Amino acid sequence: MLNGDSYGSAFYELCLGTPSMTAILIGGSPGTGKSEVAEVLGIRLKAEVISMSDLARRNGCISARDDARDTDIIDEDCLVGAIMDEVETKRHRIIVEGHYIDLVPYSSMEHAFILRTHPDTLRERLLARGYSKEKILENVEAEVIGVCQMDAIEAFGEDKVFEIDTTDLNPLQVADVIVEFLKSPAHSPRYDWMELLENEGRLDEFLS
Ligand SMILES: Nc1ncnc2c1ncn2[C@@H]1O[C@H](COP(=O)(O)OP(=O)(O)OP(=O)(O)O)[C@@H](O)[C@H]1O
Ligand SMILES: [Mg+2]
Repeated sequence: MLNGDSYGSAFYELCLGTPSMTAILIGGSPGTGKSEVAEVLGIRLKAEVISMSDLARRNGCISARDDARDTDIIDEDCLVGAIMDEVETKRHRIIVEGHYIDLVPYSSMEHAFILRTHPDTLRERLLARGYSKEKILENVEAEVIGVCQMDAIEAFGEDKVFEIDTTDLNPLQVADVIVEFLKSPAHSPRYDWMELLENEGRLDEFLS
């Protein structure tokens, strides 16, 4: 996984110069509300929203399709290049949302907001989206383990990663939390669904 100190971002900075503007990143498991929250936040902050999956598609960074998992395989080098090209051309703060936010070079981001959702609620949302049983299990399991926030912390460090529990908030309220945080940054809460479910004796229900 690339991170702020990685060869990848250092290489691009050497070639292109350190970008002057930064991006607000919104990450999280599928169904946690990234796209909806980013749209609301974009309106609130008058900032352009970039979807990482659209960016990957537009720049030919989808290298293959994993039919068994019903998901695209991303060419990470290609996507890092596309992000840097995008960031280079912007003169204003942008919002970047999607699954691969940890690929954004450290020097181009200001904060990463990871949307978290209780596994029961996430499962309902993914069911409503018509996802297959396997895909729901895989995505909910990733949320239980906390894959997205672990990847973000690994890439950007604890201080740059703020988690928001969206379980009982609508996207407008989640955007409010982000706006408040940007006004006065605070220490992030950390959510551990694994511990919660283990204490309830339900962890096996969620792990394959
Ligand atoms: N806070 C919320 N409360 C209730 N429903 C929500 C909330 N956020 C999103 N949803 C619903 O969950 C579904 C997924 O939302 P959205 O598409 O924004 O998620 P996403 O994180 O962008 O997913 P993906 O990673 O697949 O792009 C949508 O049907 C949306 O209306
Ligand atoms: Mg989305």
